[in-house]
Amino acid sequence: MTSAGMTRPILFGASTPSGTALRLQAQAVPADSTPLVAAGRRRPQQWPDTLPFVPCDLLAAPGDASTGLAQFGSQRWISFAPIWHLAPFLDQWLAFDPRHSHLLRGVVACSSSSVITKRFAANRFDRQLVQRLREAETLVQRRCADHGIPCTILAPTLIYGAAGPYGDRNLSQLLQLMRRLPVLPLPADTGLRQPVHCHQLAAVALHMSTRQAEGDRGLPAHLPLGGDDTMTYEQMLRRLQAATAQGDAARRCRLLPLPTRLFQLLASPLLLRSPKGFEAVLRISADLAGFSAAHGVLGEPARPFPVRPLAP
Ligand SMILES: NC(=O)c1ccc[n+]([C@@H]2O[C@H](COP(=O)([O-])OP(=O)(O)OC[C@H]3O[C@@H](n4cnc5c(N)ncnc54)[C@H](OP(=O)(O)O)[C@@H]3O)[C@@H](O)[C@H]2O)c1
Repeated sequence: MTSAGMTRPILFGASTPSGTALRLQAQAVPADSTPLVAAGRRRPQQWPDTLPFVPCDLLAAPGDASTGLAQFGSQRWISFAPIWHLAPFLDQWLAFDPRHSHLLRGVVACSSSSVITKRFAANRFDRQLVQRLREAETLVQRRCADHGIPCTILAPTLIYGAAGPYGDRNLSQLLQLMRRLPVLPLPADTGLRQPVHCHQLAAVALHMSTRQAEGDRGLPAHLPLGGDDTMTYEQMLRRLQAATAQGDAARRCRLLPLPTRLFQLLASPLLLRSPKGFEAVLRISADLAGFSAAHGVLGEPARPFPVRPLAP
């Protein structure tokens, strides 16, 4: 058994596309013979009977969860749960019992690239999100540093795709919109996007966690992460359409580029109802790309967008 195989991987956010993708990948690696444990508020759909599930609400005091998690001994945490829930839980769990810091051998926690891309947002909702993300990242990093626990924070951009019964609610919603509308207006200038498939995010998280457990101390503390392909928002929609089955209603939707200022003017009434929504419309023209590509981190060939499977 490898040294990575001796620490128990504990997975938070197992009931997400990325969590399920990680479970499927971990099960496919026979060398890592220590079975994954899911920790969450409810048993994830299709979680195999052969793998443990431990009830754990990150918002509850860590009393019961302490016993639940500590029973697995030496462990490494991988989280796809909201980092602002994980951070205070980790803080309290480490404070709850001095033995915990000896049990925990590594943390890979998912945050979001919004911490970078929404930093200068004009609306309060997005600014508060950035503050919440940043405070949570800092708390996770500080506590891990205090206790000598290796820690990597992944900050992925737009996550898409499906794994098991779970699918994204980003690109799948755009596909649904294209299925409903005969015409979809867009600004002529659409910004760059670098969407990352949930299987790629899971592979990077698993890779980082395994390397932490093997004693690699050269891992990044904070890794903004994207997929292998960068394209404009409009190209992303066109490639999504082309990836659907022949006869899919999304293929019939005509993408209609409008002069960017006219598009933004037409969307401007939204400013009164939802400044956050209006800023999201403006962001269609912003470049949200330039993150580390998943294939580069993994040392694998690049995978063109869209990677399958897609959420319906
Ligand atoms: N979606 C995106 O495009 C995007 C982009 C950038 C970053 N991210 C980050 O990537 C990760 C995955 O995103 P996602 O959209 O798939 O999932 P999400 O909706 O952000 O998180 C849902 C997961 O968190 C768990 N969770 C929530 N509250 C919990 C609590 N109190 N105690 C225990 N577990 C709790 C849920 O488990 P149960 O409900 O089963 O307990 C579920 O597995 C998250 O960290 C998210 O912030 C997402």
